Amino acid sequence: MNVPLDIAALGARAAAMIEELAAISATPDGLTRFFLTPEHRRAADLVAGWMREADLGVSEDALGTVRGHWHPAGPDAPRLLIGSHIDTVANAGKYDGTLGVILCIIALDEIRKAGLTKPFGVDILAFGDEEGTRFPTTLSASAAVAGIFAPASLVTRDAEGISYGEALIAYGKNPDDIPAAAYDPNKVIAYIEAHIEQGPVLEAEGEPLGVVTAIAGASRLSVTVTGEAGHAGTVPMSMRRDALLGAAEMALAAERIAKADAHGMVATVGRVHVEPGSVNVIPSRVVFTVDLRSGSDLSRREALERFEREAHRIADLRHLGVVISAFHEVATVPCFRDLQLRLRNAIADLGHRAPTMPSGAGHDGQAMSKLCPIGMLFVRCRGGISHNPAEYAAPQDMGLAAAALVRFIERFQLPQLSEATGGVET
Ligand code: GLV
Ligand code: MN
Ligand code: MN
Repeated sequence: MNVPLDIAALGARAAAMIEELAAISATPDGLTRFFLTPEHRRAADLVAGWMREADLGVSEDALGTVRGHWHPAGPDAPRLLIGSHIDTVANAGKYDGTLGVILCIIALDEIRKAGLTKPFGVDILAFGDEEGTRFPTTLSASAAVAGIFAPASLVTRDAEGISYGEALIAYGKNPDDIPAAAYDPNKVIAYIEAHIEQGPVLEAEGEPLGVVTAIAGASRLSVTVTGEAGHAGTVPMSMRRDALLGAAEMALAAERIAKADAHGMVATVGRVHVEPGSVNVIPSRVVFTVDLRSGSDLSRREALERFEREAHRIADLRHLGVVISAFHEVATVPCFRDLQLRLRNAIADLGHRAPTMPSGAGHDGQAMSKLCPIGMLFVRCRGGISHNPAEYAAPQDMGLAAAALVRFIERFQLPQLSEATGGVET
């Protein structure tokens, strides 16, 4: 291997970059950075600046995905795509998404500084809509890159009533340019993402890095429950049509259904909107979300049907109305076995065993799998805590992850992936 690697220095550099990016937030305390906001703009500019400092070509597509280009074999050579996302959930951790983008920039910088050349190019992609926290869309930026952007997304609205299309124009983009964001599948070798694990497996295994076998499928529902507003002091309990109590029972039904599943299904009610939202008025309308995930698509579909039946049963008993609509649906995506092997070999070069595990969290790789084979590298996460300001990855582990990406790219040979060792693994 030719590229010299100082793991401690790489880790220190990653840690400093994490802090710089984490300072870009809509809130002074904590980290909140949503898609197509002024904070997204500032983060994208910072990332583009880092890419330029690493001597990469830089461009930005119609959905704000920042792209860093290393093309030692010219622009027509096949491309390896690597990346992650720079949007966050509300009151987020500093590592989810941003770590992957930072590691890619560091890795390509090391490769370029060492004077390595390859018969293929590498593009870094810094996506802006992985979390799906602003609009009821998720993975739309990576979907555009994969050529599967759903134009219906443009008319969806955020909590302020701003449509996705309006936000895009305000961000300086033209929705007509979205199709041009798509890569030609014939020119793409694979998509690789490094990401904080967001779970406790690597910590329990005592290993800094792991390799993902598959990304669990997910469904997101919006459930609207309607009852009748009334005076909190005068309407007897037996005569109420309280939408919130119905919604609460439905949320517990979702928990029960997930707990009864044999495939480790998880269900989360993460957003609840109550109307009229007054201390002395019986709630008349509640809109809540259900996020349901499982490594088994069959189990997930059965659970969705069960939840729908339960929600209607609860609504009937309480004389409430209920309408359920799905706004996100993604199947379980296997990681390409050949890429898993190559990632494990790169980690072995650094003297580490790489445990393999499925990802319960969603990733841009789910959309990218429609374009090309995908692979994922996980970085140990303290306490398995994520989507929480306490999220943490140690500098040494981040340094190893950057080094693993370097070794992966360094080892990568064309002709590309072998179907014989690729295939499906769940
Ligand atoms: C993204 O982090 C998700 O899995 O919801
Ligand atoms: Mn993420
Ligand atoms: Mn996340």
